[in-house]
This record gives sequence, structure tokens and C-alpha cells, in this order.
Amino acid sequence: MIHADYAIIGGTGVYDPALLTNAHEEQIETHYGMANCTIGEFKGKSIAFMPRHGKAHHVPPHQVNYKANIQALVDIGVKQVFATAAVGSMRQTLPPGALVIVDQFLDFTKNRPLTFFEDGEPVTHTDMTDPYCGRLRRHLSKTAQQLGIVAAPGGTYVCTEGPRFESPAEIRMFAQLGGDVVGMTSIPETVLAKERGLCYSTVAMVTNYCSGMTGAPLTHQEVLDEMAKNVHQIRTLFFEAIATLDTTVACACESASGAM
Ligand code: HPA
Repeated sequence: MIHADYAIIGGTGVYDPALLTNAHEEQIETHYGMANCTIGEFKGKSIAFMPRHGKAHHVPPHQVNYKANIQALVDIGVKQVFATAAVGSMRQTLPPGALVIVDQFLDFTKNRPLTFFEDGEPVTHTDMTDPYCGRLRRHLSKTAQQLGIVAAPGGTYVCTEGPRFESPAEIRMFAQLGGDVVGMTSIPETVLAKERGLCYSTVAMVTNYCSGMTGAPLTHQEVLDEMAKNVHQIRTLFFEAIATLDTTVACACESASGAM
């Protein structure tokens, strides 16, 4: 039987095969399609590493099968999820390389699956008061401090549809609305995780200032280069957080949808 207690969702670099023992690749067939992950152990904890964009980073953010990915984690028994996301920053105080343990989102996606609760599933309105699990956020924040890693303990993630970057006018609007960072992947992943009762957290890594903020055009290569430069910090943070997480501390995520 395929099983893991923890999951890390992210791109290459976050996952280092050398950190896991007994690592093996799995394809998990779900009601919503296929998902890939590598499962192994770290300090006695079983961890599934899921590359959000597929093994070869070939799936663009608006075409990721978010439902299959989240359902696969549920089906193999995962309860705690640590996700990464590359983001642009709308704040001078969050320069490239900064980490943000996001605590809120603004959803500006346009054409993605919204929910598990359709097509015969009961009508359900899931609580989004604490979209990113507060217990995991606090633990990540504490762990980062102990490791000497600087990570903002909160921030609002604006999710756009992509795959294009934003116009400077959009960025000015998002900043006025209270957004701090902009990315293309947190929605619907966060929502689906909450609907299925998972404890789900995201550490966003700033790879660039948002469009219109520096006067220079923004390139995908710049995002990839900056991610590669700093991803080891997130990796260290996640593995230490998993090794030290006390899962007996009560958390409301499991009952957020009211449907469990
Ligand atoms: N905008 C949207 N998504 C991103 C960005 C950005 O500036 N940087 C990395 N992912």
C-alpha cells in the first residue's frame, strides 16, 4: 500500500533525493487523473514529494491538475502539506530571495477548477478564515527562527491566471488591494487542500520585483535563476519543520469544509 504522512509540493531543487531513504517513485491514479510523487523517509517520517508541474516541469500553472494532485495526497494518507511557490514581490521590503510564510490569498484566477464539491458531491461552503493552516505557519515561523532563516510570518498571496506575467497597472491594483506577493499556483491548490481537510501551508520565495517596479522587463529565466539560488533555504526549513512537527497539537483544518 502506498502511504505517506507528510507532503512537500514544489519544483525541482526543493526535493533532494539524498535526503530521503528508501525513496521510490509512485504514480497515483485518482478519480481526477494521475499524479506523480516520490515517497521516502526522513528521520522516521514518511514524506511524499510532489512536483507540482510534473516531473520535467512541463505543465504550465493554469493546466496543473490540482484536483488529482490533492486527491492523490489524501488517498495515500497525507495530513500535513508544505508547499513552495515562486512569487514576484510588490513590496520593497521583500526583495528577491525573501521567504514569506503566506497567510492570506486574493484569487484572480479565471478559468480553473474551483472545488471538489460539484458533480454530485454535496453543496459545501468551506471556511477560509485561515486558508493556510495556522498551526503549520506558526511552526514554520518558529523553525525558521531557530535555523537563522529569515522568513516573513505572514503575507497576502495574489494568484493570477498566468501564464503571462502581470501588467504594471495590474500590479498597482493588487498592491492597493493589500497583496504582497504575486504567483500563479496557490489557487485552487490551497482551496482544494482545505476542502479535503488537509493542513496545508505555503512558503513563497520571492524571485523578482513585480512588473513595472524596476523599469526592466521580467523574464522566466530570471525567476528560475533566483529560485535555484535560494531554494536550499526552503528545503532546509521544510525538512527541519517536518522532523520537529508535533501533530498532536489540535487544528481546525480537518473540519473546515464541514463535510468530513
Ligand atoms: N508574477 C507572477 N508569478 C510569478 C512572478 C511574478 O512576478 N514571479 C514568479 N512567479
